[in-house]
Amino acid sequence: MTINVSEIHKHVGEEVELKGWCYNFRSSGKIFFLQFRDGTGRVQVVYSKADLTEDQWAVLESLRLESSVVVRGIVKEDTRAPLGFELEGRFIQAIQIAPEGYPIGKKEHGPDFLLDHRHFWLRAESQWAVMRVRDRIITSTFEWFHENGFVKFDTPILTPTSCEGTTELFEMDYFSDEPDAPSTDSTSSPLASSGNNLISAEPVEASTRKTKAYLAQSGQLYLEAGIMSLGRAFDFGPVFRAEKSKTRRHLTEFWMMDAEATFVEHEGNMAIQEALICRIVQDVLKHCQYELKVLGRDTAPLEKVQAPFVHITHQEAVAKLRAMRSDIGEMDDLGADDETLLTQQYDRPIFLEKYPAAVKAFYMKRDPQDPTRCLNNDLLAPEGYGEIIGGSQREDDYETLMIRIREHNLDPKPFEWYVDLRRYGSVPHSGFGYGLERIVAWLCGLHHVRETIPFPRLMNRLTP
Ligand code: 4AD
Ligand code: MG
Repeated sequence: MTINVSEIHKHVGEEVELKGWCYNFRSSGKIFFLQFRDGTGRVQVVYSKADLTEDQWAVLESLRLESSVVVRGIVKEDTRAPLGFELEGRFIQAIQIAPEGYPIGKKEHGPDFLLDHRHFWLRAESQWAVMRVRDRIITSTFEWFHENGFVKFDTPILTPTSCEGTTELFEMDYFSDEPDAPSTDSTSSPLASSGNNLISAEPVEASTRKTKAYLAQSGQLYLEAGIMSLGRAFDFGPVFRAEKSKTRRHLTEFWMMDAEATFVEHEGNMAIQEALICRIVQDVLKHCQYELKVLGRDTAPLEKVQAPFVHITHQEAVAKLRAMRSDIGEMDDLGADDETLLTQQYDRPIFLEKYPAAVKAFYMKRDPQDPTRCLNNDLLAPEGYGEIIGGSQREDDYETLMIRIREHNLDPKPFEWYVDLRRYGSVPHSGFGYGLERIVAWLCGLHHVRETIPFPRLMNRLTP
């Protein structure tokens, strides 16, 4: 019977068949130890020469690292094995014998070498574990939102404008979106359908690509349109930042979840973030114990991630940081070092609230108590991980929003539809976005986000 490694505990004493890869092996000449993996887990298959035909033994001896194989054997309990089981080998079939020289060996490799071989590195147990924790975070996010009345709403990646500041935009040439541009769709063209102007059905030349398009930095603005229909919504997808930052926290392409809700103000917005993050951490602790063990992650700090989180204003944070000898200015955004320093003071995540409006985005609502500040928050993960979420209450007044757009030197034209939302049935609303890779790095205890996404895109890396 063909089974997965993950089901092996149900078959003690039985002969089973497994299909996968030989990730390591060693032989004494009489006993052959085959380290087997199939995507669901890893198990050792022990073959004894005395039990096999000569042909079968020859197959074993021909195996090289990462050869694909079918193995059969009897499941034995073994307390020394990571899963508590091993197979007494009875049969081996090679699907493909890999050549000598699999690039990733037992010796230590530097990060650049590993990233150059990312297509193979993904097979390492540590990377397998990271991808599984990532998957768990995504699953828990969808579950929590659906249980709490949020609807998945897909926002576009090709956009006519920026959401988070124009200095970090990836730009590309796009077709003209003028309404009178020639159409290539012959069925919708009145001239083409009349049959007397076939020329209009010719393909349009590339020269019509005269507008600029930008890769989305966040789906937020579109989500704000979505909630005026749905009430509560979230998106989840790749976003792009042409940031010239080579730090352990920055990717040029990463996955963001944005959430948005009507009739939720600043405090309520943070309560949603707190509940979501608690759920994600609890689920990872519940479902990913083995993965966290593989990664050597100390789970004690994660157990402490419980409501209520710490709340501190930007003003208080600056005072604290200056007392700890940071050179941060009153009105500065926190640098990565400041975030690290601050998170080391607490064992729970920190809501850092009410930033100076001058360093924040145009759409954030100002604090009525102090209009130089926004009703916004970052959420900082403990243990030095820093910002994982950015969120705010949104400006919901038409006139004020127009002023903000002008103050930020933005062209109002592409934002017309967005400010229109404030003209027809504007309501108080708030939202936030998390960076998936930052959360994966934190929960897995990884130093750098480059390991948290299957194929990282960094300033100096576009391959593989
Ligand atoms: O703080 P940010 O820029 O906020 C927004 O984009 C809002 N529009 C979100 C919203 O309110 N819906 O980005 C949100 C999160 C950050 O907190 C961080 O976790 C992550 O996205 N992030 C990055 N992750 C990896 N690489 C980068 N270059 C990142 N930039 C932001
Ligand atoms: Mg931010």
